[in-house]
Amino acid sequence: MSKIHIVSNRLPYSIKDTENGFSLKPSVGGLATGMKSIYKDYHGSWIGWPGVAKEDHSTKELDQIDALLEKENCIPVHLSHEEINLYYEGFSNRTIWPLFHYFTQFADFNAETWEVYKAVNQKMADATISILEDGDSVWVHDYQLLLVPEMIKSKMPNVTIGFFLHIPFPSFEVFRTLPWRKELIKGMLGADLVGFHVYDYERHFFSTVRRLFGYEISFNQIHVEDRIILADAFPMGIDYDKFHDAALATHQKPLQEKSRLHQELEKYFLTSPDRRLILSIDRLDYTKGIPNRLKAFARFLEKYPEFRYKVTLVMLAVPSRGQVDHYQQLKKEVDELVGSINGLYGSINYTPVWYFYRSLPFENLIELYSSCDVALITPVRDGMNLVAKEYVASRTNKSGVIILSEMAGVAKEMGEAIIINPNDENDTAESIYQALTMPLDEQRERMSYLQDRIKRYDIFKWANEFVKSLNTARDIQSDFL
Ligand code: UDP
Ligand code: G6P
Repeated sequence: MSKIHIVSNRLPYSIKDTENGFSLKPSVGGLATGMKSIYKDYHGSWIGWPGVAKEDHSTKELDQIDALLEKENCIPVHLSHEEINLYYEGFSNRTIWPLFHYFTQFADFNAETWEVYKAVNQKMADATISILEDGDSVWVHDYQLLLVPEMIKSKMPNVTIGFFLHIPFPSFEVFRTLPWRKELIKGMLGADLVGFHVYDYERHFFSTVRRLFGYEISFNQIHVEDRIILADAFPMGIDYDKFHDAALATHQKPLQEKSRLHQELEKYFLTSPDRRLILSIDRLDYTKGIPNRLKAFARFLEKYPEFRYKVTLVMLAVPSRGQVDHYQQLKKEVDELVGSINGLYGSINYTPVWYFYRSLPFENLIELYSSCDVALITPVRDGMNLVAKEYVASRTNKSGVIILSEMAGVAKEMGEAIIINPNDENDTAESIYQALTMPLDEQRERMSYLQDRIKRYDIFKWANEFVKSLNTARDIQSDFL
C-alpha cells in the first residue's frame, strides 16, 4: 500500500520522565494537535524530534523511548544539546520564527546556527529516505525543515513531496533581509506542492520566488526548469467533532464527577449570576500579543468600573521555548503585568486575572472553552490560530463571543467575530465591552455561522484537500515529462 510519511521537527508525542519510567504525552501547538488526528489514516510513519536531548539518556533509555514511540508509528530523530541549541533554539526560533512573524528586530543572523540548521535538516531527510518504499509520498511540515524537501528530492526525484508552512510567509521586503534567502527557497521548491494557511502568505511566496529566481508563475504553478511546482492556500481546520462531543459530555457530567478546575469555575458563577469569564489561551510567545491583551483588559476595567468584581480574565500561558531570551523577557513582562492588574483592581474576594503558567490536559481545555463567555484572541501575528476554532467547536449552546485580531490567519474565516487591531488598546477594550453586552440572540446567530463553517472545513477536509492537490501535482509533473 502506498503511504504518506509525515516529517516535522516536533513529534506529536513528547516524552514524560516519571518515577515509574517513561510515558508519552501529547505535544502542544497547532501542528501537533491538528496532524495527530489524521496521520494514522495515511499508514506512514511520523519522523521528528522527541523533544529530549540524547546526552540526557543512556542507550537503554533511548531504546525505551524509541519503542514507546514506535507503537505510535513515530520514528525519533535524536538531537544533541548542541543541535537543539543551534538548530532549534538558534536558527529556527531566533532567526526564522521572528523574521516570518515580522519581528525583524528580534531576528539573529548567525552563520554558525545556519550550518547546524542545514545539518539537522539533512539528518531528518536521511531518516525519511531510509524508510521510503516505492510509491510512498512525503509530507514535510513547517519552518524548522525548509530544506528537507530539496534534500529528499535530490536523492529520490520520483518521490512526491508536499510541504506545508504553519506560520506566515512574510513580504519579500522582510524575507530578503535573510542572508540565506535563496537556499531556503530552493529547499522549499524541492516539494511538488507547497501549502500555506491563507492566500496572502502564498502571494508573498510567489513574489519572493519571482524576485529571487525569475521563475515563471502562471496561476498557482511555478515553472522551475524541468519541473512544475504547485502552491496553494489550505486553511488548517480542527477535529471539530472531537471538541464538540467532548464539550457535550462535559455538560452532562454530574458535579461530583467534574474536575476540580470545572468545579471551581462553576462555583465562581454561583456566587453571583452576572459574573462573566473571558478566556485567553496561547503558548507564551511574543507573537501572541499577551501584554497588549492584558493592557486592554486593564483599560476596560478602568473605563467600565461597573464590571469590576464581575469579570475575570482566565489566562492560560503554556511554557514555550524557555531557553530563548525573548521568551524569558516576555515571561517577566507578563508576570509583572498580571501582578500589577491584580494589585490595582483586585481585592480580597476578587482577582481580575487568573493566570496559569502551564499546559492543561484536553479535558480541562474543554472545560475552559465551554465555561468562558468571551474568547480574547489578540496575536500581533499568527499563521492561523487553532484556539479560535476550538472555542467555536466547544460552544454547544451557541452562546459566546470571539474577539479576534485581524493579524491571525483565522480572521479570514471568522467575519462574525469582533475583529480588532491588537495594537489598538482602546479599541480592544471597547470590544470587550461590546462582547460582554452582546444580546444572546446576536451571539447565537454569529456562532451558528461560525460553527457551520468550521465544522465543514475541518482537519479531515483540510488534509484531504492537501493530499488531493498533491496527487494533482504528481500527475501534472508526469504529463509534463
Ligand atoms: N493546547 C494544548 N495544551 C494546552 C493549551 C493549548 O495542547 O495546555 C493546544 C490547543 O488546543 C491548540 C494548540 O495548542 O490546538 C495551539 O495552537 P494554535 O494554532 O492556536 O497556536 P500555536 O501554538 O500553534 O502557535
Ligand atoms: C507552532 C509551530 C510548530 C511548533 C509549535 C510548538 O505551532 O508552527 O511547528 O511545533 O508552535 O512550538 P515548539 O517549539 O514547542 O515545537
